[in-house]
Amino acid sequence: MLKILILVFLSFFLFCSSAIETLTQNQSIKDGQTLLSKEKNFSIGFFSPTNSSYRYLGIWFTKVIEQTVVWVANRNDPFNDSSGVLSINQDGNLVLHDNFNHSLWSTNVSVQGQASTAAQLLDSGNLVLVQENNKKVLWQSFDYPTDTSLPNMSLGLNRRTGLNIFLTSWKSRDDPGTGDYIYKLNLTEAPQFFLYKGSIPYWRTGPWPWRSTAIKSNFKINYTNNGDEISHKYFFDDSAIITRLVVDNSGLLRQFVWNGGENRWKDFWSAPIYRCEKYGHCGAYSICNPDDIDFECSCLPGYEPKSPRQWYLREGSELGCVRKKSGLSMCGNGEGFVKMERVKAPFSPDAGQMYLSIMGYEACKQACLRNCSCTAFTSLNDGKETNCLHWYGELMDIEVHYDEKDPNVYVRVDAADLAKNTRKSGGFFGNKGRLALVVMSIALPLLPVILLAHIWLRKKKKTRVKRKFHNQSLNFTGTKGSLEGNELEDGNTNPGQPIFDLSCIVAATNNFSPANKLGQGGFGPVFKVYTVTTHDCYLGQLPNGQHIAVKRLSKSSGQGIEEFKNEVKLIAKLQHRNLVKMIGCCIQGEEKMLIYEYMPNKSLNFFIFDPIRSSSLNWSKRFEIIIGIARGILYLHHDSRLRIIHRDLKTSNILLDDEMNPKISDFGVARIFKGDQIQDRTNRVVGTYGYMSPEYAVFGKFSTKSDIFSFGVILLEIVSGKKNSGSYMEHPSLTLIGQVWELWKEDRALDIVDSSINESYIPHEVLRSIQIGLLCVQEDVRDRPDMLEVLLMLCTDATTLPSPKQPAFIFRIASNDLRSVAEGPCSINEVTLTNVEPR
Ligand SMILES: *[C@@H]1O[C@H](CO)[C@@H](O)[C@H](O)[C@H]1NC(C)=O
Ligand SMILES: *[C@@H]1O[C@H](CO)[C@@H](O)[C@H](O)[C@H]1NC(C)=O
Ligand SMILES: *[C@@H]1O[C@H](CO)[C@@H](O)[C@H](O)[C@H]1NC(C)=O
Ligand SMILES: *[C@@H]1O[C@H](CO)[C@@H](O)[C@H](O)[C@H]1NC(C)=O
Ligand SMILES: *[C@@H]1O[C@H](CO)[C@@H](O)[C@H](O)[C@H]1NC(C)=O
Ligand SMILES: *[C@@H]1O[C@H](CO)[C@@H](O)[C@H](O)[C@H]1NC(C)=O
Ligand SMILES: *[C@@H]1O[C@H](CO)[C@@H](O)[C@H](O)[C@H]1NC(C)=O
Ligand SMILES: *[C@@H]1O[C@H](CO)[C@@H](O)[C@H](O)[C@H]1NC(C)=O
Ligand SMILES: *[C@@H]1O[C@H](CO)[C@@H](O)[C@H](O)[C@H]1NC(C)=O
Ligand SMILES: *[C@@H]1O[C@H](CO)[C@@H](O)[C@H](O)[C@H]1NC(C)=O
Repeated sequence: MLKILILVFLSFFLFCSSAIETLTQNQSIKDGQTLLSKEKNFSIGFFSPTNSSYRYLGIWFTKVIEQTVVWVANRNDPFNDSSGVLSINQDGNLVLHDNFNHSLWSTNVSVQGQASTAAQLLDSGNLVLVQENNKKVLWQSFDYPTDTSLPNMSLGLNRRTGLNIFLTSWKSRDDPGTGDYIYKLNLTEAPQFFLYKGSIPYWRTGPWPWRSTAIKSNFKINYTNNGDEISHKYFFDDSAIITRLVVDNSGLLRQFVWNGGENRWKDFWSAPIYRCEKYGHCGAYSICNPDDIDFECSCLPGYEPKSPRQWYLREGSELGCVRKKSGLSMCGNGEGFVKMERVKAPFSPDAGQMYLSIMGYEACKQACLRNCSCTAFTSLNDGKETNCLHWYGELMDIEVHYDEKDPNVYVRVDAADLAKNTRKSGGFFGNKGRLALVVMSIALPLLPVILLAHIWLRKKKKTRVKRKFHNQSLNFTGTKGSLEGNELEDGNTNPGQPIFDLSCIVAATNNFSPANKLGQGGFGPVFKVYTVTTHDCYLGQLPNGQHIAVKRLSKSSGQGIEEFKNEVKLIAKLQHRNLVKMIGCCIQGEEKMLIYEYMPNKSLNFFIFDPIRSSSLNWSKRFEIIIGIARGILYLHHDSRLRIIHRDLKTSNILLDDEMNPKISDFGVARIFKGDQIQDRTNRVVGTYGYMSPEYAVFGKFSTKSDIFSFGVILLEIVSGKKNSGSYMEHPSLTLIGQVWELWKEDRALDIVDSSINESYIPHEVLRSIQIGLLCVQEDVRDRPDMLEVLLMLCTDATTLPSPKQPAFIFRIASNDLRSVAEGPCSINEVTLTNVEPR
């Protein structure tokens, strides 16, 4: 009896472990048995998902501890018990059936003659059914994937068989049934992969040759487009790396890599993660810039929001843009093209897109120009041949990428927009002239008054300013807002910034995992790092557990290295409690990073524009923040031994520490003035619309007074909780500055105050702040106070303030035109603008 038991046990054991490599016609796999691949990379057998008692036939990784199923045969028809059997039936097909010969799934291929077949699980994870006499593969699981693509597995269309191989998500973690998300080739004239939710596009790769997909150095994607197939597959150089690409049931396309040391799957890349990546996030005829934290959408040149009100309220952006009502005909009427630099090429769902066999940019352009329904074109140079791609009709899903592998797309504009956007033909200056004209036509009737006022004011000011500079080192103790003593710590000049090792930062940020991402600045993402305790390579430069923020410059930002050096040099020299502190930096190959002290409360815009968080900032806190920002700027303008113009002051660049103390950050575009220099000019206007003074935005002139203007806008935003972002072209009075000015004139300025500080504020203090804000945004540079005056006005009640003059919101009328000055993808409402004109 015992002998028999042992025998049964032994044979069972032997049968289970000495797994069959090949399934032939007289064999079967029952529930509880598995078939292994030769090198034991994969197993096939029956399994139940977590929290489920249903049984499925599936393929999983053998060497991965956490059961990870990569293929399911009967995803929608599970067994409710362990009666499942996989075998090969008489006509040579693989069949999955129960004890009652009831078939739940089968391969449905016809085998020539009566040839015998055999099934084999390969080490690539592919289950193949082979005709034994000629070794012909009759069927393979790689052609019918579920939610997972393995290395070297093709996704796309097999032109010979007509089979379109695609991925479909599971219903849920416990249910492998057919889910909502599909990653599939859309075979239009410009073939591209789409991630669909049902039938609604959710993300796409961009048109062939699918350059937009993230590709890292050891990870490769092979594209094939020939008579046999149009497909892609991926693989790592090192085939020992265990990896999988999955469409998960939350709608993400995710690439995982198995970390054997930690026994877990790690994210390698995923899409779509950022708002801009979502298909049609900004609607038709728009462009999405992920670097813009505040509002990522803007209309293409020549287009305007379909619903301006919703657009500027940052709602319903998916409504998109339409041709400007004032637009001219674009058919044989002097039209042309404006370049969108390095973008994800659009998709045209209505009229489509088409590759033309035309060589070269100029011929491609002329062909598009000749066809009036051609709305845009790109001339791709993929190394071998030049491809000309035309779009007809609606342009969807353009996203700023900055990546050199991405194409420049040329959008058709009418003659007027072309003139505005053409620099060489004088259009640029023509445009500036028009702007000047707008300003002049408004200012001209007032000229005598303005002139007189100036002469008078300047005389008065000179004496005042002289006195003030003489008193500059006066002790502020006792004045309101606690300007206690001298807090300018300009002493140690070059603290010797530590240089960190790239590998440490990679480890600390979990390979720049999106989960650790704080936000996105002008020139690349900012990462948050939770702890540095385990990384010995910091060599004690940081106390264990200190939080740091890593600002990683995007490799392809173009202007990165210059700004980087600028920022390192500058911040190393700056030490003030209202400026963000740099801890170190890292330069290794293409990687450039700055390591800052970590600000747990993010940035000011995160609070004041949020209906819930804004209530945590009462008036006195807000007033303290205003004073803190003013002190930081004062230090930059007057008190550090350099005179520094920040040039991009805005609420998202004001970071908040754990006590909500403001710290100015992002010195990427700052400029140093030497000696007595008070003003400079640049052809390269960088900054953010809404915060840019007119003389800077229009003429490139910048000085401390352009920073004062930005400060004024920030101050008014803090008081009102509203953004000065709107570019209501026809209604300048609807910009924040315009609104405040109107209310101020009607003596109702307090109406603008943020309702969430209604209880807490002291009316005369708020009124005074609004008045100071209005003084800072005055149109004429010379009317604006300097930072020392601002601080004095803020901190003392004693002096009566001058009456503010007309603010510079008028330039907003023209701002939309101005935006089109940018030739690149800079036509963004609220992004740090760069490269308006080459130096
Ligand atoms: C199964 O069939 C193969 C040939 O197809 C044969 O060699 C083998 O002996 C058979 N095994 C059993 C257990 O019948
Ligand atoms: C399984 O179910 C339990 C209880 O319903 C739940 O707590 C657990 O999170 C589930 N596990 C998974 C992986 O869904
Ligand atoms: C299991 O499924 C079979 C059909 O496949 C059905 O006849 C049977 O009632 C089911 N049993 C349970 C307990 O659901
Ligand atoms: C199972 O079904 C096949 C045809 O589908 C038949 O040839 C075979 O005899 C059946 N076997 C049993 C045990 O009923
Ligand atoms: C099997 O294939 C034939 C033609 O090859 C087709 O008519 C039939 O519908 C298929 N059956 C299934 C279940 O796919
Ligand atoms: C990938 O598949 C091709 C055939 O499709 C094969 O020749 C090649 O060896 C495979 N490469 C790897 C790394 O598995
Ligand atoms: C391609 O995608 C578009 C947008 O979802 C859809 O309208 C069209 O039917 C798709 N075409 C194909 C061939 O799948
Ligand atoms: C990928 O493509 C390159 C050249 O196009 C080829 O040499 C290589 O074998 C391909 N790799 C795979 C796995 O198909
Ligand atoms: C099987 O796994 C080993 C180690 O993980 C790897 O080196 C090998 O390339 C794999 N085989 C295939 C065909 O992928
Ligand atoms: C313009 O292109 C569209 C789409 O290819 C085509 O249908 C139309 O005939 C073309 N028109 C002219 C005038 O070439």
